[in-house]
Amino acid sequence: MIKYFLSITLLLCLFVSCKQIDKSSVKGLITEHAMVVSARAEASEIGSAILKKGGNAFDAMCATQLALAVAYPFAGNIGGGGFMVYRKANGDIGSIDFREKAPLAATKNMYLDELGEVIPNKSILGAMAVGVPGTIAGVFEVHKKLGSLPIEDILEPVINLAYKGVTVTKKQEQKIKKYQPLFLEANKQPIILDTLWKTNDVIKYPELAKTLERILKHGRDEFYKGETAKILAKFIQDNGGIITEEDLAKYKAKWRTPITFTYDDLKIISMAPPASGGICLAQIMTMLQPFHLDEYGHNSLKTIQAITEAERRAYADRSFYLGDSDFVEIPIETLIKDDYLSGRMIDFSFEKATLSSDVSHGNIKIIESDETTHYSIVDQFGNAIAATTTLNGAYGSKLYCSELGFFLNNEMDDFSSKPGEPNMFGLIGAEANSIQPEKRMLSSMTPTIVEKNDKLYMTLGTPGGSTIITSVLQTILNVHEFGMTMQEAVDAPRFHHQWLPDEIRMEPNAFDKKLVKQLEILGYSINEKDSPVIGKVDGILVLDDNSYEGGADYRGDDTAVGF
Ligand code: DON
Repeated sequence: MIKYFLSITLLLCLFVSCKQIDKSSVKGLITEHAMVVSARAEASEIGSAILKKGGNAFDAMCATQLALAVAYPFAGNIGGGGFMVYRKANGDIGSIDFREKAPLAATKNMYLDELGEVIPNKSILGAMAVGVPGTIAGVFEVHKKLGSLPIEDILEPVINLAYKGVTVTKKQEQKIKKYQPLFLEANKQPIILDTLWKTNDVIKYPELAKTLERILKHGRDEFYKGETAKILAKFIQDNGGIITEEDLAKYKAKWRTPITFTYDDLKIISMAPPASGGICLAQIMTMLQPFHLDEYGHNSLKTIQAITEAERRAYADRSFYLGDSDFVEIPIETLIKDDYLSGRMIDFSFEKATLSSDVSHGNIKIIESDETTHYSIVDQFGNAIAATTTLNGAYGSKLYCSELGFFLNNEMDDFSSKPGEPNMFGLIGAEANSIQPEKRMLSSMTPTIVEKNDKLYMTLGTPGGSTIITSVLQTILNVHEFGMTMQEAVDAPRFHHQWLPDEIRMEPNAFDKKLVKQLEILGYSINEKDSPVIGKVDGILVLDDNSYEGGADYRGDDTAVGF
């Protein structure tokens, strides 16, 4: 294992000037055959070991996903859901949706009081916030269709890790401490993370190991119809939630056709609804296509303006049109069409910021006929996956089922509880993303694979709620337009605009003060306070000699491992 090297020089270089990065000094791990990049070294190591054993990227995906549930309870999970996009060595592409669903007893106004106001925290903290988890269904579906090793080979190292325990990192110590008051609020009984865990302590998860052993013995249905399902449904209901055994029994992961589009000589393959990532990325990149970002320069005034204005318009469309395509009609083809998008940018000017109050969703006639973690994997056969998975908030709903050993998501907050009312990421939604039984809540997750000249070029993604889409965008542009290495592209300072609130969020102290002033003079409102970190991107780039470069984000404990 080689953890990527981030020197003080790099940090200084990034913070002093984002444009003058010394390329020769900043490369991620390079490997010849295969690689896994994830939020924790333990998970990347388990994934890489599966590949070394002869498993493919899909086997490694299953192992990495489950290992993150052990090593990274902050977002890794079996109590949440996610999405995976893949590209096989032969060029076949596909994606799977294992997003959570609203329970059968969910109703449109379940988070509103009698006056029609949103009840604070009801969709965020505790059992009412939990959506029906999809992760185990997703993992087993991927394994059944695309895996090559026996499931024992995949689960055993993960079970061993849960018994052996995971070493607390400095960042983890801080996170656990930060969220402990909320663990107390959400749980009736003490939970494992109530302890004052310190850096280098080892946390063991024997209950999670036992749950995984039962899943190994009885298969996917153990989680959805077996003893685990019974314990889980009872636990959620005892804590005031509405998920039933029937909800669990009815859950199914779904294969979806990815969103694809081109940008210059790249073909981008990303996630379709209920993730908004693919459509928004396609919209933003298509709106940016006529601009010469490479000439303007990385994070220059003109580049930031062009990107911001494209983002503003895409997020306005997102809030109106996007939701679960199984429930609402989404005019996908029109939304990502060149002429529709060039029309959206027609009022853009470098002279002055557009106001979000002047931007609404575009007019499309619908013709009858709708805290997270990312890992990227390439295997020695040429298959690639990009997978983003989440509990939504940090440690999800904070509700921890001690008997089963895992946190439950608070994904219900990704629905629009009330039209026009922002969710925890400040995202506004409309009817398309209203709550309905069994509907999947709209996601910003954007697991993405990029081809160049019909060959695999990049696989990437990130957590970060609403900032996911814009972080993936900037990372692709950093490589493609500004010639950065994968590691530089991941580490470069990021900014974000999401239509409402009408502000550019920037990572603090990462952008030149003069540049910030110029943006303000042009009418942009800048927020450098609220987002100390925007995204934690993990990606892999195929280099000219067909070796791989990993980009593991220095903002987390992210680690590339391979051979
Ligand atoms: O699906 C979504 O868009 C959100 N639940 C993602 C949450 C997230 O990325 C939190 N991480 N910082």
